Amino acid sequence: MTASNLAPNSHSCSRFAAVIIVAVSSQRGMFITFEGLDGCGKSTQLERLGSNLRERGLDVTATREPGGTPAGEKIRQLLLDARTVSLDPYAELTLMFAARAQHLREVILPSLDEGKILLCDRFTDSSEAYQGGGRKLGSAIVLELHRLLCANLQPDLTILMDSDVATSVDRARRRNQAKAAPSADEGRFERENRSFFTRVHASYLEIAKREPQRVVVIDARGTPEQTHAKIVKLVNPKLESLSPSRRTLGVR
Ligand SMILES: Nc1ncnc2c1ncn2[C@@H]1O[C@H](COP(=O)(O)OP(=O)(O)OP(=O)(O)O)[C@@H](O)[C@H]1O
Ligand SMILES: [Mg+2]
Repeated sequence: MTASNLAPNSHSCSRFAAVIIVAVSSQRGMFITFEGLDGCGKSTQLERLGSNLRERGLDVTATREPGGTPAGEKIRQLLLDARTVSLDPYAELTLMFAARAQHLREVILPSLDEGKILLCDRFTDSSEAYQGGGRKLGSAIVLELHRLLCANLQPDLTILMDSDVATSVDRARRRNQAKAAPSADEGRFERENRSFFTRVHASYLEIAKREPQRVVVIDARGTPEQTHAKIVKLVNPKLESLSPSRRTLGVR
């Protein structure tokens, strides 16, 4: 699968369906996403898992959404900056997907083609939870956009880090306040009220219930070390499906 196979000028539905099948079946790497509320520890755990896998000789790419590409990082700035006001929920959703479409073709598919382990901080489940649940746009539009714009690519594993709404958002707020540069302001979502995050949380749990094969809920209320140990235990058996040469290096 290459990015060019996913050119947006595939006109007929049948051709598009064929493209989707190729996209999903021919990837050689492993696509792992981290999901959960703001401040639950996704970035912390992604970094730790990345180091752990690299130390074991595996080829890892770490990336994030929104962002992950030069164009996507500009969109991220617009979306997350607390100074962005009055953004329509549909504009928010489609900007998320604009960044994702770019990310998919520029980073995600090429990395998977090269057989890498791709660790991604947030993916389409975030859109379903935040814009679908939090903003009340519903899941259907998010899933449809994902099908149309992202070839319906599904992660091999999604680690949903479950935590308390208040604890997580409080941590994210404190972390962002500690960042000195105003240009790095990423606090727009943290200004939402508790009922917004309660809907986001509920939406995440619905996704996990709907797709238990892909989404694994990890209790992220413990220390970073405890959560890391749980994640390594979860990921290790998945490495078995990598090609034999890399498997020998990766699984201990
Ligand atoms: N298990 C933990 N216990 C206590 N603090 C933690 C834990 N994990 C991470 N933190 C701290 O909480 C803050 C938020 O963590 P982190 O940035 O990893 O969360 P995140 O899920 O990536 O947040 P966001 O969605 O806002 O990017 C950081 O300051 C981090 O050091
Ligand atoms: Mg983060």
